Amino acid sequence: MSNLLEQTAAVVFSARGLAKVYRSGEVEVHGLRDVDIEILRGEFVVLSGASGSGKSTLLNILGGLDVPSGGEVRFGDTVLTGADENDLATYRREHVGFVFQFYNLIPSLTVRENLALVTDIAKNPMPIDEAHRPGRPDAAAQPLSGPAAGG
Ligand SMILES: Nc1ncnc2c1ncn2[C@@H]1O[C@H](COP(=O)(O)OP(=O)(O)OP(=O)(O)O)[C@@H](O)[C@H]1O
Ligand SMILES: [Mg+2]
Repeated sequence: MSNLLEQTAAVVFSARGLAKVYRSGEVEVHGLRDVDIEILRGEFVVLSGASGSGKSTLLNILGGLDVPSGGEVRFGDTVLTGADENDLATYRREHVGFVFQFYNLIPSLTVRENLALVTDIAKNPMPIDEAHRPGRPDAAAQPLSGPAAGG
């Protein structure tokens, strides 16, 4: 019984009636339609579905990168759907970790500089020497878009 009570208190995400409509000109694409989801603390969740079924759309909204067209998302007691750009930036910085499908790195910076960007803005960043242990120091010093990026 106490377990159940602890669990109900530990809802990290709850979303109700989530919708996302992408508009391009006259065309409307429904990325999400009436999605309800609840995720508890410590839960390990896998989203699976056909390409185009809305996985990235949902993750972008839960991660504060995008806003839904309808419905409500809560992170703990905070209503994310009421947050402005600055609030969402703070939320992402303090609570969200993303591994992007397309890496979203800055090509003119080296690997180490890309990692160091995070240590500049995060509250309690991992020390850069812990995050960055290059196998080949010469390659790590090259910009990602430079000769070291090939192969
Ligand atoms: N920026 C956008 N503009 C227009 N339509 C979009 C946009 N992003 C996604 N969509 C559409 O929304 C739907 C859901 O896309 P989404 O990228 O969330 O799917 P997914 O499940 O992540 O697919 P994949 O497995 O290929 O990554 C698709 O029909 C997609 O074409
Ligand atoms: Mg996707």
